[in-house]
Amino acid sequence: MSLLAVSNLAKRYRRGGKTVAAVDDVSFHIEPGETLALAGPSGSGKSTIARLVLRLVEADAGRIEFEGGDFLALTGAALRARRAHLQMVFQDPLAAFNPRATVARVLDDPLRIHGITSRSERPRRIAALLERVGLASDLAARAIHEISGGQRQRVAIARAIATKPSLIVLDEAVSALDVSVRGQILQLLLDLQREEGIAYLFISHDLGVIRAVAHRVVILDAGRIVESGDARTVIDAPQSTVGRALVAAAPRLSRQAG
Ligand SMILES: Nc1ncnc2c1ncn2[C@@H]1O[C@H](COP(=O)(O)OP(=O)(O)OP(=O)(O)O)[C@@H](O)[C@H]1O
Ligand SMILES: [Mg+2]
Repeated sequence: MSLLAVSNLAKRYRRGGKTVAAVDDVSFHIEPGETLALAGPSGSGKSTIARLVLRLVEADAGRIEFEGGDFLALTGAALRARRAHLQMVFQDPLAAFNPRATVARVLDDPLRIHGITSRSERPRRIAALLERVGLASDLAARAIHEISGGQRQRVAIARAIATKPSLIVLDEAVSALDVSVRGQILQLLLDLQREEGIAYLFISHDLGVIRAVAHRVVILDAGRIVESGDARTVIDAPQSTVGRALVAAAPRLSRQAG
């Protein structure tokens, strides 16, 4: 049984009298502990799929099964409980968190909200989470806006894993980081996956990064899947026009190929 099974997902937006099919009849699945990447040109629907899977926006049509149940049918307490297993990391943690909040506060929230750790245990759990993502525990007292972009993304990952998720949705999570920090964060994600069996829905415009971390890739264009398969196979020899164009536009890859 797949961890996540998305079938015939659709989402339209109305814009200036026209209807845009942001996501159009999209189906894919993610197995436990697997990384599935979404690639595609700007506006192809990657972030909309992420938001639909996280139920941040409502689908027009389609089905999402998560951990064996109908995820779109959940409401109230059942939805909150299931959501603990489905976490997210976005490109810009400064926008996702209150910049004046302390790191401890950001990590305390999910533990409190999901009732995971008793109040007296939480400081120890927060220190353990920081250590797990390679940060010193004294960072807990610092404000989000005072730490570096790489440290902030580690805090975002610590927050995501606080509720012991089975799936993390990462939307351009390493795109804003410079190359060396990006490599460290990707390694952290790979380590967490190996040790905790977490699956990732990994959205990136960087095919080099996808090739390095993803098991499978889905290529989107104008809301539709145009190609999918083993990440290296697809990226090394794309069959679709859009896939070929993406590979041709990726500087490191075209150098590799040519
Ligand atoms: N809230 C919204 N209102 C209207 N149109 C939207 C909205 N969100 C997305 N769209 C449109 O849906 C389409 C898909 O957008 P989406 O953000 O999912 O693309 P993307 O693949 O994530 O692009 P990028 O690589 O630039 O992040 C685009 O045409 C976009 O303009
Ligand atoms: Mg996007």
